[in-house]
Amino acid sequence: MKILAIDTSCDETAAAITDGRRVLSNVIYSQVLLHKKWGGVVPSIAKRAHEEKIEFVIAEALKKHKITEIDYIVVTQGPGLAVALEVGIKKAKELAIKYQKKLISVNHLEGHIYSAFVQNSQGNPKRNFKFPYLSLIISGGHTEFVIFKNHLEYQIIGETLDDAAGEALDKAAKLLGLGYPGGPVLERLAKEVENKDFHNFPRPMLKSNDLNFSFSGLKTSFYYFLKKNPNQTSEVKLLASSFQEAVFDTLIKKTEKAIKQTGINRLVVGGGVIANLHLRQLFRKLVGKHHGEVLFPSYKYLTGDNAAMIGVVAGFKAEKDLFVKNIDELDRIPRWSL
Ligand code: KG4
Ligand code: ZN
Repeated sequence: MKILAIDTSCDETAAAITDGRRVLSNVIYSQVLLHKKWGGVVPSIAKRAHEEKIEFVIAEALKKHKITEIDYIVVTQGPGLAVALEVGIKKAKELAIKYQKKLISVNHLEGHIYSAFVQNSQGNPKRNFKFPYLSLIISGGHTEFVIFKNHLEYQIIGETLDDAAGEALDKAAKLLGLGYPGGPVLERLAKEVENKDFHNFPRPMLKSNDLNFSFSGLKTSFYYFLKKNPNQTSEVKLLASSFQEAVFDTLIKKTEKAIKQTGINRLVVGGGVIANLHLRQLFRKLVGKHHGEVLFPSYKYLTGDNAAMIGVVAGFKAEKDLFVKNIDELDRIPRWSL
C-alpha cells in the first residue's frame, strides 16, 4: 500500500512515500536558513517558501515511484501555521482530484507519536507495538503527555500551559545572541561544560501534582538573570547548559510523575527536542530506574518535522477506512488537539 505523504505544518516542506511502516523516500526542504536572521519562523516567508518548493519536494519523493502507483495521498491538516498548512493541503487536494486518489488527513502530533515506529526501506528497526505507551511530544510548538492506548487512540494527560520546551530553548538561545533554532546550539555549548547545572535555574511546575508544564516563568527568570548579570554573558556555555538542564530536568521529573500516575513504564518520545543526545540519556536513565523502556525515532532526519511519519500514520488510517469524505471541503486546523 503506497502512500504519498505531504507535511507543510511549519518551516519544513516535506514529502515522503511510505508503504506501511516503511519509508521508501523522504524529502525535506528546511527553511531554517530563511528564518534564521529573524530569530524565529516568519509566517509570510514560510508560506512563500512552501509554495516555491512544494512541487519540487513532491517530485523528488516520487522520483522512483510513479504517481499512478500510489494508492493514497495524505496531508497534515493541523496543528501548525495556518498559511503554511494551506499550501500542503491545496497541493494534496489538487493531486487527489487529478489522479483520483483517496485522501487521508493526519494530525501532525500523531506523526510525532508514531515516529518511533517508522522503519527504513529494509523494515528496521523491527520493534512491535506493545500498547499502552506513555508518549511525550517535545517540539518547537508542543509539549504534551499522551497515553497512546492503541492504534489511533490517544488521551492527552498533560500539556504546556504556555511555551513549548523547544520554544523555551529557542528563546533562551535568542537572549544569549545565539542562532536559531536554539536547541542544537545550546546542545553544542552544553557538551563542553562539566558542571551542567551551574546556575541551577528554577524548575517550573514541579510542585504541582498535575502533568502540565509551563516554561514562560523560566524564560522570564533567565531574562532577568541576564539583565542583572550582564558580565555573565561571557559565560555563555554555563548559561546555555544551565538553562537546558532546567528544561530537561523538568521534563524528566514530570515524566517520572507521569510513569507513577499512569503505571505505564514504556515510553515513546517524539519531536525535535529529542534529537538531543543528552536528553535521550536522561530518558534512558529514567526508564532504567523504573524497569521500563524508551523508544525514540531512529534516524536523525525523523526526529524533526518530516512527512514519513505522517505517511506511516496514514497507513493505519487506511486500514480502518478513515478517508476524507469530501475533498473539496478539507480545510486546515491550525489549533487541533489529538
Ligand atoms: O519537531 P520540530 O522539528 O518542529 C516542530 O514541530 O516544532 O521541533 C523543533 C524544535 C525547535 O525548538 C528546536 O530548537 C528543537 O526542536 N531542537 C532541539 C535539537 N534539535 C532541534 N532541541 C534540543 N536539542 C537539539 N539537538
Ligand atoms: Zn513537528
